[in-house]
Amino acid sequence: MVAEVLGGASLGEAEARWLPHCEGGRERAFARHLAFATLRWQPRLEHICARLLRHPLRRRDRDLQALLLIGLCQLLQLETPPHAAVGATVEVCRALDKPWARALVNGLLRNCLRRREELLRECASDPVCHHAHPAWLLELLQRDWPEHWQEITAAGNRQPPMALRVNRRRCGRERYLRLLREAGLEASPLPDAPEGVLLHQPVEVSELPGFGQGLVSVQDGAAQLAAHLLDLHPGQRVLDACAAPGGKSAHLLETCDGIDLLALDLEPGRLERVRENLERLGLQAGLRSGDATEPEEWWDGRPFDRILLDAPCSGSGVIRRHPDIKLLRQAGDIPRLAQRQARLLERLWPLLAPGGLLLYATCSVLAEENQRRVRAFLAAAGDARSTGPEASWGIATNPGRQLLPGDHDRDGFFYACLRKE
Ligand SMILES: C[S@@+](CC[C@H](N)C(=O)[O-])C[C@H]1O[C@@H](n2cnc3c(N)ncnc32)[C@H](O)[C@@H]1O
Repeated sequence: MVAEVLGGASLGEAEARWLPHCEGGRERAFARHLAFATLRWQPRLEHICARLLRHPLRRRDRDLQALLLIGLCQLLQLETPPHAAVGATVEVCRALDKPWARALVNGLLRNCLRRREELLRECASDPVCHHAHPAWLLELLQRDWPEHWQEITAAGNRQPPMALRVNRRRCGRERYLRLLREAGLEASPLPDAPEGVLLHQPVEVSELPGFGQGLVSVQDGAAQLAAHLLDLHPGQRVLDACAAPGGKSAHLLETCDGIDLLALDLEPGRLERVRENLERLGLQAGLRSGDATEPEEWWDGRPFDRILLDAPCSGSGVIRRHPDIKLLRQAGDIPRLAQRQARLLERLWPLLAPGGLLLYATCSVLAEENQRRVRAFLAAAGDARSTGPEASWGIATNPGRQLLPGDHDRDGFFYACLRKE
């Protein structure tokens, strides 16, 4: 999985390809744990690996590069006993059909153990190595969050918790917490999210009581804020313009009976996930694949009372869940994403009824994708007014509100409520 991400694939793609080869849940969980930890610390491990290698490895030895990073991760970041880590890593050379690399892997890892203190000291003076985030992202975080950037990077490097959303149509939160206790799973209520539950230990969804019967979904507490910011009422026409995989669409439907929801997404394959999720939860919506910036192709001309624009973004607020972002995203992606976000806002606004509400959301912490985008839109639109969120969580960014990653162990999310005059 790690080699695949080093080669440019997303971690999701790599997981889909490799996890089915694992034998059983324990092996799968261990493989995920190692891959996530290695990618989480990759900027640091890569730096240390380069210090220990006499010559860089050839491109066709990307599998070995990945193996070295996994070995270093076990020695430096995870509490794997050194002998076990070195022995198991060296053994993998055979499986890779590169027995010649055994001496190289063994030598490098043992050298790392010998020079551990010196290497870590050196690392502390290099920001990329120390904070384990790429230089371009550190620069943006320092600019946008001069007082909080270290909190943000620290949260990005932590293992995320598993959070749940109870389907209030089928079960109350208190009752679900009881079901969890009876199943031997410790959990507590999430703040600001009336249906939110935080599991103290992650489990496979099949172990969650009533998952198959639609009692509950996996969703971070920050993402659960969206549905309650939309001020939904029965009979309203609602558009979820970037809906897949459908977490927020489902929550909108669970929150308010009788809304007429259209869930739109550009990617038909991802829309299938929305269909499966709604079916499991016993919810109904119109599903449509289409480009939100080309409404002439899919809009029937009847205005929406509410629009949720959960825009495609850098994911800089959810790096702890998607550590591959550190490798795959580049500085140049941000202006490109900002342009897409601006276009989405501009093209969706005419679809909103007068008096209607559009909620702009991203799982980013970058001002360029958040408050700056919304500010530019407000200046150009003329009939749009910023109305919040008025909330006790997060930080007011005027316009909008930012939840930083790690706040009550939630993801980083930005929300802005825009009312049409
Ligand atoms: C942040 S994700 C949405 C997550 C979703 N709201 C949820 O809570 O499960 C962004 C989604 O926007 C979709 N997307 C990107 N550009 C789009 C466009 N121009 N029109 C419609 N959907 C788009 C992507 O396919 C992706 O599924």
